[in-house]
Order: sequence, then structure tokens, then C-alpha cells
Amino acid sequence: MLKIIEKAEKTHNLSKEEIIEILKIDDYNKELFEAADRVRKAYVGDEVHLRGLIEFSNICKQNCLYCGLRRENKNIERYRLEPDTIIEFAKKAREIGYRTLVLQSGEDDYYNLERMKYIIREIKKLDVAITLSIGEKTIEEYGEYKDAGADRYLLRIETTDKANYEKLDPGMSFDNRIKCIKQLRELGYEVGTGCLIGLPNQTIESLADDIMFFKEIDADMIGVGPFIPNGDTPLKDEKGGTFELALKVMAITRLLLPDSNIPATTAMETLNKQGRIIALQSGANVAMPNVTEGEYRKKYMLYPGKICINDTPAHCRGCITGKITSIGRHVSDHYGSRRKSK
Ligand code: 5AD
Ligand code: SF4
Ligand code: FES
Repeated sequence: MLKIIEKAEKTHNLSKEEIIEILKIDDYNKELFEAADRVRKAYVGDEVHLRGLIEFSNICKQNCLYCGLRRENKNIERYRLEPDTIIEFAKKAREIGYRTLVLQSGEDDYYNLERMKYIIREIKKLDVAITLSIGEKTIEEYGEYKDAGADRYLLRIETTDKANYEKLDPGMSFDNRIKCIKQLRELGYEVGTGCLIGLPNQTIESLADDIMFFKEIDADMIGVGPFIPNGDTPLKDEKGGTFELALKVMAITRLLLPDSNIPATTAMETLNKQGRIIALQSGANVAMPNVTEGEYRKKYMLYPGKICINDTPAHCRGCITGKITSIGRHVSDHYGSRRKSK
């Protein structure tokens, strides 16, 4: 086992069998996390990039079984922010120091091309990098967002098990999701993807495939988070993922993609009070604090136990900065684009 970890640290390559071996056995987790931390330090350094997350609409036309925003969930109060409100939130986030803003929503067609382009153009004037996380669109739309000023795009594959994907995301096509990710790459976006850990019927083998997929497409950003069962969804009685397994998948991902940007995900902190700090010490180099204002945070309920729902953007910025400096790291003051090592 130690040999496999050493190989990953040196060569950044593992076979699927080797990944499975690491995932299966927990006796060397400490060594794994330490190796990932060393690789993180060697390739992306001690700075942590903060991305300000604006959750601008919780309306979604999709029906993913795991997600609280699914269209059939009648138990949440829906909202959508007007373009000028989104721009105002972006300005405030810029003022408190963010250099990257992530615009995230359900798949909400209210934000047509004109509206999205207006939002992107206005926010781009603030001198920030813009990341979109708004789901599956056409290549034409992706191209137009890019021309308007979008820099990056997040589209998690969620799971690379096609049959399970299509069961969990009814009406969605796995092949189309892959197509979207490839198109985003061709258009010159920095592309982020990622997966959920602990989905029903997900195996260790399948998680190994997820990691191989990140490597194969050379993802620029990879978000790995535990699946947390949501009481308002059909998966309410499922067990969900563990913090430890999510952390392992994240750490192996760092070993194999040494210069990528990997967030300490918010869902990890839901399962462990020190979750983001532990993740930052096990391979992660990014955090994505919420910069949505007012009562909207509570309503953007992908899963229960979401952190920071009663906090303000300024408070979260201070909180996470304190945590980062307490472990001898520092907050970066630039865009934090991926810098490829070769
Ligand atoms: N638990 C954890 N993460 C979830 N997401 C959706 N539902 C859940 C859940 N119940 C994640 C998905 C999506 C991201 C925005 O939120 O991976 O890509
Ligand atoms: Fe919609 Fe995304 Fe939730 Fe699926 S995971 S229901 S696409 S917000
Ligand atoms: Fe929001 Fe700590 S990051 S309260």
C-alpha cells in the first residue's frame, strides 16, 4: 500500500486496481492524506483561493433524486434573483475581496441568453474571474457566455456509472453530460467537474472510475463531496456518504492531478466541523464561501445541514480567512486560475 501511495506521489499515475486498493483499505489513510498535502504544497503552494458563491436561483427543471432543488420538491420556497440583484451581490463580494465569483443556480430557463450575457458582462467589469455553474446548455450558449466574459464552468459528472447516473437523474442523458464537458473544454473554458460520494448503488470500483475520468479529461477543477440524504427527496432514507471516503477520493485526485484546483467542499464541513480545514490539509487548495445575501442562503437547500445559512458574506470571509491562517496558509489575492505545471 505504501508503495502505491509513493508511486502516486512520484508519478501522478495509478491503475484502476491501485486506486481501488487505496480506497478499500483504511489503515494507511494518514499516509495518503500526508502525501496529498505534500503534492499540494509542491505544485500549488500554500495559498488558498477563495471563490465567492452566488446562489442566484433555486428553481430547477431537472429532477435529480438526491437534490433538494429538484422540480418535484414542493417543500422548498423557490426564488430567483433579478439580474441587477445578482450584479449588486457581485459588487459587494468584490468589495470584500473576492477575485473569483461563482454564479450557481438550478437549471432555470428564466435566465435566457440575453439575461445571462447581461449579468456576465456587468460582473466582468468588476475585474473578477467568472465561473458559471448553471447546468447543461447548448454549445452555442456556452460559446456566447464565454464571449461575454465567462472564464470557467463547473459541471459535475456526479458519477461515471452511466446506468446509475441515468437512474439518479431521471430524464437526463449521461452521454449529453459528457458532451457538455467536452464542449466547454473545446471552447477554452477552465473546466470543473466532480462527483458525489456515497450515492445508492455506488461501488468503490465506480469511484475509481470517477478519479480516472478526472485524470483522463485533465480537469482544471474537481469538487468531491459526500452525498447527504435530503428528507424532501426520494433518497431520504439512504445512508449517504462518509466524510472519510470523500476525503480519500479527494486526496487521490490531488495525487493524480497535482496542479489542479481542488476545493474543500462545503458538504464536507456539514459532516465534520473541521471538514474544510482537514480537506485543506489533505490536498485541497480552494474554498468557496457563500456570498449570497439575506434569506436566500437557507432556501438554496441542496442537502440538509448546510453551513453558514445564517451568516453574512463578510462574516464568512473573515471566518474562513481565520481558519486558513490558523493552519499556516494564506488567502491568495489573484484570480487563482490553474497554472499547469507542464
Ligand atoms: N448532497 C450533497 N451534494 C449534493 N448536490 C446535490 N444534491 C446533493 C446532496 N443531497 C451537489 C451536486 C451538484 C452540486 C451543485 O450539489 O453534486 O452538482
Ligand atoms: Fe437541478 Fe442540479 Fe439539483 Fe439536479 S443537482 S435537481 S440539475 S440543481
Ligand atoms: Fe461561513 Fe465560517 S465560512 S461562518
